[in-house]
Amino acid sequence: TADVRADAAVKRPTVIAHRGASAYAPENTLAAVDKAAALGIDWVENDVQRTKDGKLVVLHDDNLRRTTDAEEVFPSRAPWKVRDFTAAEIARLDAGSWFGPAYAGARVPTLAQYVRRVDVHQQKLLLEIKNPDLYPGIEGQTLKVLGNEGWLDRRHVAGRLIVQSFSAPSVRAVHQLKPAVKTGLLGTPSVANLPAYAVFADQINPSYRSLSSGYVSTVHAFTGPHGRPLEIFTWTVDTAATARRVAGYGVDGVITNKPDVVRTALGGN
Ligand code: G3P
Ligand code: CA
Repeated sequence: TADVRADAAVKRPTVIAHRGASAYAPENTLAAVDKAAALGIDWVENDVQRTKDGKLVVLHDDNLRRTTDAEEVFPSRAPWKVRDFTAAEIARLDAGSWFGPAYAGARVPTLAQYVRRVDVHQQKLLLEIKNPDLYPGIEGQTLKVLGNEGWLDRRHVAGRLIVQSFSAPSVRAVHQLKPAVKTGLLGTPSVANLPAYAVFADQINPSYRSLSSGYVSTVHAFTGPHGRPLEIFTWTVDTAATARRVAGYGVDGVITNKPDVVRTALGGN
């Protein structure tokens, strides 16, 4: 009936906790994963980069200044780039105090530590490969860590893992290395480029600022590498009004620092 079709058209988007529930706990830490879980949110987003000694860690910026005490601990190591520090050095840093005293002592997690915590909560992971130009081969390395942690088995790749990047070559590399893994291309590519991207990306994930209802329908009309319509997860939506607006456009997911606010706005639980 028309009512059933209307219900289908307003299918609730997935709510994804951006860098964990990062309005309430320090971004990209295990505490932010725990906070998302405590709020009942089953998808978390994170950012992956590489250390000087080739280990993968979870951090947004390409340097350590904003979200750790690296400047105090290593005063002579300006400009405090992630890639200039070993994993052991980064493990000494406090990644929580900048956010609030309650989080003093929170650490920058390795990717392995991070996915283990996501597993503890039975959550799902939207993993962003950050700055892949700085880290040649990071795609294969990320897949290796995920594989070692059991994240490339069927249960995970079927609906629990998406790997995304702003870099189209990086997303293509992930798809070619492990075609079963679902992928997302961040940004708002022109419609002319969508046929090429639909070969290797299951999702197109734009800022909500660049989104329109027409763009969402256009993207949905393409078929992705797994034979399903391309999806759209949009970011970073932190108000109820914007969440309702983008849901009205028909997006498939809303990436937010305030997953409780967005979930309530969308009428979910
Ligand atoms: O997941 C989308 C969003 O995280 C992309 O931007 O800068 O927050 O990593 P950024
Ligand atoms: Ca991100």
